Order: sequence, then C-alpha cells, then structure tokens
Amino acid sequence: MIEKLNNKFHITTFGCQMNEHDSEIIAGMLKEKGFVRVDDVAQANIEILNTCSVRENADKRFFGTLGQLKNRHDNSNDFFVCVCGCMMQQQTVIDTLKAKYPWVDLVFGTHNIHNLPSLLDNVTREKTKMVEIWPDTETIVEGLPAERLFKHKALVNIMYGCNNFCTYCIVPYTRGREKSRTPENIVSEIKDLVADGVKEVMLLGQNVNSYKGESERGEVTSFAQLIRMINDIEGLERIRFMTSHPKDLSTELIEAFKDCHKLCKNIHLPVQSGSNVVLKRMNRHYTREQYLDLINKLREAVPEITISTDIIVGFPGETEEDFQDTLDLVNQVEYDSAFTFLYSIRTGTPAAKYEDQIPEETKHERFDRLVNAVNAISEKKNGEYLGRIEKVLVEGSSKNNPFALSGRTDGFKLVNFPGDPALIGKIIDVEITKTKTFSLEGKVVE
Ligand code: 5AD
Ligand code: SF4
Repeated sequence: MIEKLNNKFHITTFGCQMNEHDSEIIAGMLKEKGFVRVDDVAQANIEILNTCSVRENADKRFFGTLGQLKNRHDNSNDFFVCVCGCMMQQQTVIDTLKAKYPWVDLVFGTHNIHNLPSLLDNVTREKTKMVEIWPDTETIVEGLPAERLFKHKALVNIMYGCNNFCTYCIVPYTRGREKSRTPENIVSEIKDLVADGVKEVMLLGQNVNSYKGESERGEVTSFAQLIRMINDIEGLERIRFMTSHPKDLSTELIEAFKDCHKLCKNIHLPVQSGSNVVLKRMNRHYTREQYLDLINKLREAVPEITISTDIIVGFPGETEEDFQDTLDLVNQVEYDSAFTFLYSIRTGTPAAKYEDQIPEETKHERFDRLVNAVNAISEKKNGEYLGRIEKVLVEGSSKNNPFALSGRTDGFKLVNFPGDPALIGKIIDVEITKTKTFSLEGKVVE
C-alpha cells in the first residue's frame, strides 16, 4: 500500500485531447488508490507533468515548468515530481532529463500509464529515482478508471497510435502503431458512461477513419459501423469524433452522418496545406482537388455540417505561390474554424532533414495573413447564426463569467448565455442574440 500521509496530487497537462484523456485515467487510477486531486500545485506533494511533443514550444513550456519545480523539490523530502506523455518516448528527452534534471523522481511513457500506481509506490516509499519507458506494444489495457473533466461528456479512446508518418509529425514515433479497441469494449464503456450521466461522447484516435475493430468472434468493424452501433445506445444523445484523415474518409461515413441522428453534424478535417506540391512532401496522400471534392460531398449530404481544420504554415520549401494556394483553399472552403500552426522542426521526422527550411520571419508573416483570413471567415460564418435557435448541451459555468452558462451546439459552436445552473447537463434550446469570431451569445428559449 502507498503511504497516505501526504497523498495530494496535481496534474499539468500539455497538448491534445489524447493527453487530456490520459490525465483523466492517471487521476482515476490514483483516486482509486486513495490519493486526492488538488487544483493548485502548491497544495500537492506529487506533481505529474503530462507532456506533448507535437511542436517545439510545447517542449519549451515543459522544461520551463519543470525548472520552476526544482527549488521546492530541493527543499522538501515530501514533494515528488513525475513526468510522462509523448515527450518521454523520445530518447533525446530522456538523455536531457538524466543529464540536466536528475532530481526528477519518476519518468514513465505513453505505453505504461497503467503501471503508475505501483511505480509511484516504489518512488515514494523507497525514495528512489525511476525511469521506466516501455516500447510500443500490441496490448491495449482495458478497464482503467478515469476521472472525467466534465460530468456530462466524456472522451473515449477508440484507437491508439498512427501509421501515417506525415513527414512533419512526431506522433507515429511517440504513440506507436495503430491499434483499435474492440467494438464490444467501446460499446460497453459508453453504456457505463451513460449510466453515469454522460450525454455526449467524443471518440478519440489520431485517425479515427482507419479504425478497424476486430470483435471477439473475428469480425471486422469499420469506423462507420462502430458509429452505428454507438448510435443505438439508449440514453446517449450526442456522438462526436476526432481526428479524421482526409485520405481515409469513406462514403460509408458520409452516409452515417445522414442516418445517425446522434452523430453531431460537425467534422474536424485537417487539410495542412492547400498546395499539391506541399501536400506531397508532407506525405498526406491526397490532393487539394480530392480534399475539396470531399468537402463538397460532405456538404451535399449534410448541408448544415460545420467544418474545422488544421493548417501548417512554413513547411520546408513552401513558396509564396504554395501559400497562396492555402489561402485560396481556405477562402473556398470557408471553415467555421481553423487551428493554424507555424511549422516546427521535430528531430527524427523526415521533414527535419529537408534543406529548404523557411526563415522564421517569412513563416510569421504568412501566419499572420492566414490567421486574418481564417478569423474573418469564422466571424462571417458565426454571423449566420444570429436569431437562430440552437440545441445546446449545457456544460457548466462560462469561463469568463460565473453567472453565465456555457455549452456547445450540435455543430460544436461555443455559446455563452445567462441561466440557472440547474440546466447543466441538459440539452436545451438557446436563441442566438449576438455572434463573435470565436463564440456565440444567446438566451434560453423558455
Ligand atoms: N509543426 C507544426 N505543426 C504540426 N502539427 C503536427 N506536427 C507539426 C509540426 N511539426 C500540427 C498538425 C496537426 C496538429 C495536431 O498539429 O496540423 O494536425
Ligand atoms: Fe501526425 Fe499525420 Fe498521424 Fe496526424 S495523421 S498523427 S499529422 S502522422
């Protein structure tokens, strides 16, 4: 048993929803062992940093945060620092930690999260330092508890890893090969979540469209079939998923959007670039024409669908003309929202070795132009919602104003509105009274 005298933990999470969900699992496991989660690291005697390696600034933020903990660690017998997540799957990071941060108590990776309670037991009891990183395995550990961030919506992993090897991306190296959970395990987890009050699930995977679930009887289930199975779960009201790779988005999935009433009419479809030359060098396996064709098909099938994307600016070799192609595509598609990123060199990926890296200044200048274009479109698209009545799942109090509620429309738009906290967890009608670039405002329809 782990000593419980000082058992308060705090988690700092960097990165994507996969990491958010891993942190939920870490918290679930520790709570099951009698630990108590605290919101302020100052109150904790165990700090866990769950890291992201997708871009360099996440690395920098991690080392910055870690450095700030050293003083307290040096002056206390009872403050333990643990680090985990994607960065730990990179040997260079482990080498840096050993050389420059040898005081860190526990280092573990993305493939052995389930071992945390026993690792922590060792570290806190024996006061030893431990580095335990597992290589990628075929095994998926099922049935781990999770402490959800929201009571009424839940993140559900349907698959792990990625086989795509986009040339800029570190994820296939840190998260390993694609592995899908069985449909039985996913459906059973969601049924349990629904019994616990969950109305909306977000199905997670690096590339959910290549989900290939093998049932215990050896039958293969596609992503679209999985959606249909989940759509039949009684009591569940909304299904979302992310992320989709355009090369694998099937007609079958587009059909599922039409047939499955619980499937929210929203898709995140990262395009990364609007230039065929860049797309090829990124190893994306589609052209801008094929991407635009997909968008047309989605909109033909589901006219009200909202679409978001990821775009990288300043990929090696990107010319002004390539960048114009991206701007042009953005203007054609008219995304509801877009996440824009400056290309960041990731050691170990093919693009890191490309010789035609773009100067920082050019990257920033293009980035600013892209953000202006994207924001102007978001503002216009949101403007179309003025006066509409939208179904909103009320998630909680609004971040900026505790007297207001906030929630998401079916199309994933954030709405803030005044209302009774008793509405939290319900799907209600909200009339949109004001629109902004990144959110909407409204009033409850009585
Ligand atoms: N540089 C910049 N952006 C990146 N992304 C992934 N790798 C990099 C990189 N090296 C972006 C992609 C991806 C999103 C999650 O992060 O747009 O879709
Ligand atoms: Fe990275 Fe590409 Fe895999 Fe997405 S699909 S995780 S961008 S390699």
